[in-house]
Amino acid sequence: MKKLTGPFTQILPLTGLPQKGSLKDSQLQVIKNAWVLSNNDRIITIGTLERLRKDHPSAQITEITGDRVLLPGFIDCHTHICFAGSRANDYALRSSGKSYTDIAKAGGGIWDTVTATRAASEATLVELLVKRADRHLSEGVSIIEVKSGYGLSVEQELKQLRAIKEASYKTKATLVPTCLAAHMLPKDFEGTRSEYLDDVLKNLLPVVKKENLATRVDIFVEDGAFKAETAMPFLQKAKEMGFAITVHADQFTTGGSELAVEVGAVSADHLEATKDRDIKLLAKSDTVAVALPGASLGLGMQYAPARKLLNAGACLAIASDWNPGSAPMGDLLMQAAVLGAAEKLSAAEVFAGLTFRAAQALRLTNRGTLATGTPADFHMYPTNDYREILYNQGKLRPLIK
Ligand code: NIG
Ligand code: FE
Repeated sequence: MKKLTGPFTQILPLTGLPQKGSLKDSQLQVIKNAWVLSNNDRIITIGTLERLRKDHPSAQITEITGDRVLLPGFIDCHTHICFAGSRANDYALRSSGKSYTDIAKAGGGIWDTVTATRAASEATLVELLVKRADRHLSEGVSIIEVKSGYGLSVEQELKQLRAIKEASYKTKATLVPTCLAAHMLPKDFEGTRSEYLDDVLKNLLPVVKKENLATRVDIFVEDGAFKAETAMPFLQKAKEMGFAITVHADQFTTGGSELAVEVGAVSADHLEATKDRDIKLLAKSDTVAVALPGASLGLGMQYAPARKLLNAGACLAIASDWNPGSAPMGDLLMQAAVLGAAEKLSAAEVFAGLTFRAAQALRLTNRGTLATGTPADFHMYPTNDYREILYNQGKLRPLIK
């Protein structure tokens, strides 16, 4: 059924903007006092009430009162929200001076969450994940990428991926699953890192494919996780199997983003340690650079060089990295606003990073903008000026529809 919803004080459709490089707020189209015409939850057009009512007299009118700014739903293209347990202990240790890698070596870190996630039933994981996805949705995030990576055995990774699939039927948010079996070498695997990755290729990914559990494969390229030279043949083979590749790159040391570009990854995420040389490579490539300010905040580390990446011409997306270790907060809007202030990003660059550029990281077409034919996936903020949204650093929340 046709629906006419409005009036909205401002609508930011985020259409017609370049996929890569820096953006000025003057490039943003801001449509004032406009209405949205939709049909079966797809946008037909945006315009004035008079014109739309004349052209579509049978449309059902829903009138909004008060100041409202309308934005496309945000897309969080990097999370690890399918997990059990808490790492408050790690956080306390880090805050008293221990490093993320030291804690991991001492038995905390990712392995701690693997233990808790393995002990949880699939039903428990579904319940925890749905709760987190619903929270994200209530904060304006409608598409959420979710990684496995806390199972680290064929059976346990499948449990996580099946939980993500099941959760996708129980939340109104859209979940995009990614297989991150290559998060670290599991402590109980008897063999080398390459042998573990071969096991993933031989025994896990074919089932993931067969059960249609994920179309994306991720790897943590880092000292202590997987070196670039070990990761390369794994990623090439995963790509040959038809998986899109994404890489946890340059979080503490370099090498990951260069590898990501070389294998034609859809995105290289983290980039806190990325150097000028890698920035140039990313800018020239189709690999989306994903900044994860929540991990910088969680670990008390520098941000990814977002300004430099945009100036060089890269496609920059911003994601939460929501996970129990490095990024426990999971507040994407707050984190994006803080990154914008620290890295001197325009509102246009921040909103692009949360919407259509994040869609590009997930290779989703038709998402992250409000245009004819796109899903009517929008969130309205109780304000008369879109700039208030980032200015309030996460405290101005969208209204529940
Ligand atoms: O993106 N860096 C590797 N993986 C996650 C952290 C996962 C964890 O600590 O549990 C990240 O920060
Ligand atoms: Fe991550």
